[in-house]
Amino acid sequence: MIAITGATGAVGGRVVRALADDLRNDLRLVVRDASRAPDYDTDVRVCDYADHAAAVEALRGAETLFMVSAAEAQDRRDQHRTFIRAAAEAGVGHIVYTSFAGAAADATFTLGRDHWDAEQAIRETGMTFTFLRDNFYSDLLPFFADDEGVIRGPAGDGRVAAVARADVADVAAAVLRAPAEHADATYVLTGPEALTMSDVAARAGAVLGRTMRFEDETVEAAYASRRAAYGAEDWQLDAWVSTYTAIEDGSCAEVTGDVERVSGHPARTLEQALRENLES
Ligand SMILES: NC(=O)c1ccc[n+]([C@@H]2O[C@H](COP(=O)([O-])OP(=O)(O)OC[C@H]3O[C@@H](n4cnc5c(N)ncnc54)[C@H](OP(=O)(O)O)[C@@H]3O)[C@@H](O)[C@H]2O)c1
Repeated sequence: MIAITGATGAVGGRVVRALADDLRNDLRLVVRDASRAPDYDTDVRVCDYADHAAAVEALRGAETLFMVSAAEAQDRRDQHRTFIRAAAEAGVGHIVYTSFAGAAADATFTLGRDHWDAEQAIRETGMTFTFLRDNFYSDLLPFFADDEGVIRGPAGDGRVAAVARADVADVAAAVLRAPAEHADATYVLTGPEALTMSDVAARAGAVLGRTMRFEDETVEAAYASRRAAYGAEDWQLDAWVSTYTAIEDGSCAEVTGDVERVSGHPARTLEQALRENLES
C-alpha cells in the first residue's frame, strides 16, 4: 500500500495520475478534504499533518508514504514532525519526502531550513527514506511578476536551476514504483540549465505572450515593498526575500542529472514546463 499526500495539489495530483492506471488498488490518498480528492477509485483517508491521531489512523497499513511538504506556515516544522512521528508509529517503512535543493540548517532560503529539519526528523525515526530535494519550481517563477510583468527582487545576476513540477512528479512516481531501489537516496532535482532571473523573465514572457522583465532590488527595498504591500509577518517576509538572495548567492545554481537518471527522460526546459501547463 502506497499512501500519497498532496493529491489535491499540483505535484501530488500528478503523482496519483501517473500511478492510478495500474496501481489503483495499492494507492491510498491522504487528503484534508475528501470531497476534493481526485476520483481514481482509490482508497481515500482524511487527516491534516498537525493531527497526530488522525494521521496514525490514516497511515496504518501503508508500507510506503509520499509526503508532500506542507503549505508555508510559521509552525510548519511542528506540522511536519507530527506527521513524520505518526508515520513511524503507524508502521510506514519508507518515506519519500519533497525537500529543497540545498536544504541545510543555515540555508540562505529560510524555508530550506524547515526542509532540513524535516529530513532530520525522518532520519531520527529510522524509517527508510528518499529525499527529493527540489529546486524552485520553474512553472511557478512567472507568477512572481507583478501586473506589469516585472519580477522584482534581490537576485542580481545569480542563477537558478529551477525544476518543473511535472519532473518532480515523474521522479516521485518512479521512486514509488520501486522504493527499494531508492532506499536512503537523496536526489537533487533541477532543470536542465541554470538561468538568471532576466533569462527567466524573457523566456517565460515569450511563451506566455506578455512582456516580462526582471528588475534587481536591494534587500532593504525588497523587505520594505513586501511589508507595505502585504503586511506579512517577519518569517514570511524572510522566506519571500530569501528566495531571491538564495539565487543571488549561487545556492540554487547547481544543475544535476537526477531527474533524467530517475525518471528516464531529460528534465523539462522552462519553455516545456510552461507550455505543458498552458495546454492542460
Ligand atoms: N520548490 C518550490 O519552488 C516550491 C514552491 C512552492 C511550494 N513548494 C512546496 O512544495 C509542495 C508541493 O507543491 P505543489 O505545487 O504541489 O503545492 P500545492 O499545489 O499547493 O499542493 C500542496 C498539497 O499539500 C497539501 N497540504 C498542504 N499543507 C498540508 C497539511 N498541513 N496537511 C495535509 N496536507 C497539506 C495540500 O492540501 P489542501 O488541498 O488541503 O490544501 C495540497 O494537496 C508545497 O506544499 C510546498 O511545501 C515548493
